[in-house]
Amino acid sequence: MKQRIFSGVQPSGNLHIGNYLGAIRQWGELQDQYEAIFSVADLHAITAPQDPETLRQKTLEIAKIYLAAGIDPEKCTLFVQSHVKEHTELAWILGTLVRMAELERMTQYKDKSQKGGASESGAGLFTYPVLMAADILLYDTAVVPVGKDQMQHIELTRTLAKRFNDRFGETFVIPEGKLSKEGQVIMGLDDPSKKMSKSAASEYNYISLTDDADTIRKKIKKAVTDSGSEIVYSDDKPALKNLINIYTLLSGKTAQEVEEMYQGKGYGDFKEGLSEVVVGFLTPFQEKLAGISDEAVEEILRKGVEKARALASAKMTQVRERVGFLPAE
Ligand code: TYM
Repeated sequence: MKQRIFSGVQPSGNLHIGNYLGAIRQWGELQDQYEAIFSVADLHAITAPQDPETLRQKTLEIAKIYLAAGIDPEKCTLFVQSHVKEHTELAWILGTLVRMAELERMTQYKDKSQKGGASESGAGLFTYPVLMAADILLYDTAVVPVGKDQMQHIELTRTLAKRFNDRFGETFVIPEGKLSKEGQVIMGLDDPSKKMSKSAASEYNYISLTDDADTIRKKIKKAVTDSGSEIVYSDDKPALKNLINIYTLLSGKTAQEVEEMYQGKGYGDFKEGLSEVVVGFLTPFQEKLAGISDEAVEEILRKGVEKARALASAKMTQVRERVGFLPAE
C-alpha cells in the first residue's frame, strides 16, 4: 500500500512562485510514489477578510493551478476543504486538546496578528493551526509536502495526534513534513530577509503565477540587490542568492553554472537573464491554465470530494466513538 500525502494552499491573494517552488512543484513529483490528496484551503482563507465572489473565483483558480502544475486528477484526489464538513468537526475536537501556549508560539500567528493588531484579529487566525492539523489527521496522512514556513504547524499536528492517541487509543497516523530542497523558502524580491508572501504590502514583493511578461520584467528589474557587482552565490549576498535560487529552480542549471554564465557581467545582465527564465517558465504555464475551463475543474472537484468525504467520514466515526459521543442512530 502506498503511503498517503496531503497538502493544500489557501485561496487568498495571488499564488506566487514561492508557493509553486516551495510546495506545488514537489506535489507533482510525489504523486506517483504516494497516494496523494490535495485540497484548496478555503476555510483557512477566511481567517483574513475575503470578498465572497473573489473567494469563489480564487478557489477555482487554485484548483486550476494544481492541474496546470501537472497534478493529475486520475492519480490524485483534489477537493475543496469546505466541502468536507468533517474538517471543522475534527478541528473543534482537537481545539479542546491544544494548549493556548502552543498556539501563542506559532510564528505565523505572531507575524500576522502583529500586522493587524493581535486583539483585533479573529480567533480563527489563532486556531488556524488546529484546522490544519484536522486536515492532515483526517486522512491518515504520512507525509505533508510544504514550504518551511508551515513546518511549525506540522510539528503541532504531530503533538496533537500523539496527545489524542495517548488519551483515547491509537487513532491517528503521526505525519511528517517534507520540504523541497532550495525552494523551501523563496524570499521577497523587495526584502530578502522575509519570505515571499501573498499578503505582502507591495506587489513588488512577489512574482505571481499569473503575472504577464512585462510585469515580471518590471518586478525583477526593481528587485533589491546586495552591495558589490559580481554575480556570486553566497550567504553574504542574500538578495542575489534568492534570485539565483529562483534561476536555478526554474532553469535546471546549478548555481555554479549561473555564476559562470555571468562572470564579468553585472546585475543588469543577470536580471535580464532571470526575467527570460521566469517568463519562459510562466508563459506556457499560463497557456495551460487558460485552457482549463471552470466546468472541467468543477467536475474534477466533484469527483474528488466524494473520495475525500468517504475517508473523512470513516475517520470521524472512529473519532466520535473514541471521544465518547453517543451515536445518533
Ligand atoms: P499557504 O497558502 O500560505 O502556502 C501554500 C504553500 O506554499 C508554501 N510557501 C512557500 N514556499 C517557499 N517560499 C515561500 N515564500 C512560500 N510561501 C508559501 C507554504 O509553505 C505552503 O506549503 N496553512 C497552509 C495551507 C494548508 C495546508 C493544510 C498545508 C491548509 N491545510 C494541510 C498542508 C497541509 C497555508 O496557509 O499555506
